[in-house]
Amino acid sequence: MNRIMVTGGAGFIGSGYVRYVLDAYPDLHVVNFDKLTYAGNRDNVKDVDPERHTFVRGDVADADAVYDAMTGCDAVVNFAAETHVDRSIMGASEFIDTDVRGVHNIVEAARRHGTERVLLVSTDEVYGSIAEGAFRETDPVAPRNPYSASKAGGELMGMAFYHTFGVPVIITRGSNTYGPYQYPEKVMPLFITNAIDDEPLPLYGDGRNVRDWLYVDDHCRGIDCALRHGAPGEVYNIAGGNERENIALTKQILELTGKGDDLIKPVKDRPGHDRRYALNADKLKALGWAPQVGWEEGVAHTVQWYKDNEWWWRPIKSGEFRAYYERQYGNR
Ligand code: NAD
Ligand code: TYD
Repeated sequence: MNRIMVTGGAGFIGSGYVRYVLDAYPDLHVVNFDKLTYAGNRDNVKDVDPERHTFVRGDVADADAVYDAMTGCDAVVNFAAETHVDRSIMGASEFIDTDVRGVHNIVEAARRHGTERVLLVSTDEVYGSIAEGAFRETDPVAPRNPYSASKAGGELMGMAFYHTFGVPVIITRGSNTYGPYQYPEKVMPLFITNAIDDEPLPLYGDGRNVRDWLYVDDHCRGIDCALRHGAPGEVYNIAGGNERENIALTKQILELTGKGDDLIKPVKDRPGHDRRYALNADKLKALGWAPQVGWEEGVAHTVQWYKDNEWWWRPIKSGEFRAYYERQYGNR
């Protein structure tokens, strides 16, 4: 693979992936195709080699733009998505445009170009909630919120193109991801930056919901492993194996920022809030992947990054974000 298209490469995980592959493969060229929504940020890739990185501002919902940008690419890795569950509850229309129609445009362009590999980055949320044990790739999808329903829709379209047209689609389902450059609407960066500013941490419901945390670099390595060594038509779970209740996570963030538990503000629960996510990642491990960043190391590094990089998140939190925050948390 000499030239790959990365869609959504100016977002959190996509930009991590762009930095990772440009570092790992010295001869690789990346076409980074991103709409630059509220979550996209050119600063996330400002340090990559401009000779090997072409940025194209475009919308995956625009079929012609996707087709044109894919010309000459050996593979496409799709990160482009509307990604925040709470925003999908406020309105799902953009989620359908990007996460379903966008994926259709990508697999259709890949079909017409004869692209060698199409990796669709998806999420553990498509399985829904699990009380005990861990989901395997053979379990049925049962999404329970508009975000995960849109992601499942995109997945199903991708697999339909594999079965119908032979488009070499591979799907990864990653668990909750954390690390530097994550937009501060998600719980980890929201709570870290609120704690730095002595603002309340709005903890939903009883705080006992469980997520399985995956460090961003491990997620990127997992996606790349599936892209290069996975089989078309297959799904691969990617999980960090770090299950934490939200309350435990919150207390750990407060400890690392040197703040007290009095900042915790229990608020009304998210509607349809999935209780627990857990994945079995043995299938990807059999291809040689394993997480490398332990929880304590990852969370400490992440908190330190937000402490050291206020230049990155302060402008975000003072912009469009304030109106969103008021709408989301104002009457909770
Ligand atoms: P993000 O919200 O940080 O970034 C999304 C990126 O996609 C942004 O750069 C945005 O500008 C771009 N984008 C949005 N709509 C677009 C469109 N119509 N056309 C082109 N670009 C568009 O998201 P993230 O957290 O980095 O997630 C990346 C992918 O990983 C998503 O597909 C998401 O579903 C999946 N995922 C995320 C997590 C997580 O915990 N963050 C876990 C598992 C899977
Ligand atoms: P989030 O980061 O939105 O990811 P996801 O919903 O995709 O898992 O939320 C992670 C967990 O944190 C989830 O159980 C909801 C909870 N949460 C809060 O308690 N308060 C918040 O302000 C946010 C954003 C999330």
